Order: sequence, then structure tokens, then C-alpha cells
Amino acid sequence: MLPWFQDRFPLYLAPMAGVTDQIFRTLCKEQGADVMVTEFVSAEGIFRKNARTIEYLEFTPAERPLGVQLFGADPDHLGEAARRVRDWVGPDFLDLNFGCPVNKVVSRNGGSALLKDLPLLERVARSVVQAAAPCPVTAKIRIGWSRDAVNALETAKILEDAGIQALAVHGRTKDQAYGGEADWEVIGEVAQSVRIPVIGNGDIKTAHDAARRKCETPVAGLMIGRAAMSSPWIFHEIKSYFATGQLPPPPTLAAQWELVRRHCALAIEARGAERPAIHSLRARLMAYAHGMPGAKTLRSRFAVMESLTQLDEIIAASLAEV
Ligand SMILES: Cc1cc2nc3c(=O)[nH]c(=O)nc-3n(C[C@H](O)[C@H](O)[C@H](O)COP(=O)(O)O)c2cc1C
Repeated sequence: MLPWFQDRFPLYLAPMAGVTDQIFRTLCKEQGADVMVTEFVSAEGIFRKNARTIEYLEFTPAERPLGVQLFGADPDHLGEAARRVRDWVGPDFLDLNFGCPVNKVVSRNGGSALLKDLPLLERVARSVVQAAAPCPVTAKIRIGWSRDAVNALETAKILEDAGIQALAVHGRTKDQAYGGEADWEVIGEVAQSVRIPVIGNGDIKTAHDAARRKCETPVAGLMIGRAAMSSPWIFHEIKSYFATGQLPPPPTLAAQWELVRRHCALAIEARGAERPAIHSLRARLMAYAHGMPGAKTLRSRFAVMESLTQLDEIIAASLAEV
């Protein structure tokens, strides 16, 4: 049993390409997220070992337990990539992506494409489990390719038999992309049908959602993605709610801004250049604006913001209005 499931009900930060970089993972860890997964990396990226890939693989000890997520469709390549990652950075686990619906990935048979080819998915899983040993391997799936091809139970059984040690299930089909709703009934059936821990994922937006899913399905943990983008403190709220049955007071606006500003300052420091760092943070700032008073005005100001000084002006104006 992976140690973070022993006597605990871990909260995972969902892997999100372009979002869950080292800075954001650290902020979420501070807020109580238990387990981190990197943005996905291709086997070919590992072989090339270019600057981008190295950046994806960087993490700090404080982020542990942490998994590196791999995607691809060639069992031998993925096995070799897993072995190299294990030896380079020593993650706590490797995670296989069998859920990505993006065309660029699916057209190369990666991500959710493997849900349509279970013999290949099995070969990928077995190859990586063998090559990565003794590093544990986990996987993340969607419930199937389409509504009429929901095969999560079969997929889960194959992965368990292949030696996968925990399974995150996003309750959508590939065809749904991010539309509609996650199907927690199927997630519950999967959790019931295998012995390995199943982590439920999809549409957890509040501590109440988390409590309901924990109570109604036999999952061993929960994974939170988009809600953390606008409210990283959701992990703290869920933990307090689980522990006391009460919601903690929401973070003050000043505390929210403190986190946003720190995110920006750390990104500028990491990039070594203010303007490009702020530009690449725009989408992230838009997400933070969600739920803040005057979100519309904030978004239009973020759209033209170029410096930390301007952010400070935006923060001062926002705090003066409440
Ligand atoms: C911007 C974005 C990037 C994502 N990138 C990945 C990824 O690299 N690997 C992965 O397994 N899932 C990825 N996902 C899916 C999430 O991990 C998660 O399964 C999905 O967002 C549903 O959870 P949520 O409703 O809590 O957001 C991504 C989702 C988003 C929104």
C-alpha cells in the first residue's frame, strides 16, 4: 500500500498542463494538498532532455510525495523513459496518463486513445511497472472513450493486474472533454471493484462536494483540479471540514491577494524577467479573479498588466473598495 493511503484519505492536486508547475504545486501544498503530480511529460521529451522537460521534472523535497506523469503509447519507450526519470529525479511514484483528450496527444495514440486499445494499454502499464521498479507506478484514466464505450471497470482490472498501485478516475469520457458532468456512479463502481486505492476526480468545487463524494463512494482519496486554480485554499477548507464538520472562515481578501502576489513574484524570480513572466501568468490571474469582488474589472485590468507594480496598484484598489 502506498504510504500516503495508510490511515489517511489524501487530497491530490490534479495534474494540469500549463498550471501545476513547481510554484503552483508549492502554494497548494501550503494549503494542505497531500499528493502532487507534475504536468505530463512525453517519453520522447525525456529522451531529448531539453530545457522544457528538465523544468517539468524539477521539484523540491517539500512537495513530496510527488509523482511524475508520463504519456505515450510505445511500451518500450515509456518503460525506458520511466527508468530514466526514476534515476534522475527520484520521484515517489510515476503516473501514467490514460485520460488526456487533447488531439495532439490522442492522434499519436497517447492519453485517452489507449482506452480504445486495452491490449496496448496493458502492455504500456506492464512495461513501465517492470522498468520503474522499485518505484511505484500509478495511473489516471477517464471512464471510457464515449458514453457507449464506458469501460472503466475493465480498464481498472487490467491496470491492477499489471501492478499499478493506485488509480485516479476522472468521471468523464474522452468525448466529453470537460463538458457535462463527471459520473461519480462509475467512479464508485470502479472503487468497489478493485483492491488498489481509487482516487475520485471530477467537478469537486467545494468542501461540501468533497464530503459528499467521500461519503457516497468508496474512494480512497480525492483529486482536485480546476477549483484549485481559482481557490488553492480549497484543500484547507476540505481538510477542516472533514476534521470538524465546520467550514473554516473563508480567507480574507487580503490573504487571497497575498497568495496571488507571491505566485507572481515567485514566477518572475524563476523566469528572471518580469514582463514575460506576467504575460504567461495572465490565464492564471484570470482564474484567481473568479470569486473575487469586481471580477470583471479585475480581468480587464489583468489583461493589460505588465508588472508587479501594476499588480500592487490593482490590489490596493481592490482592498480599498471593500
Ligand atoms: C488546463 C488543464 C490541464 C490539464 N492537464 C492534464 C494533464 O497534464 N494530465 C492529466 O492527467 N490531466 C490533465 N487535466 C485533467 C485534470 O487533471 C482533471 O482530471 C480534470 O480537470 C477534472 O478535474 P476537476 O473537475 O477537478 O478540474 C487537465 C485539466 C485542465 C483543466
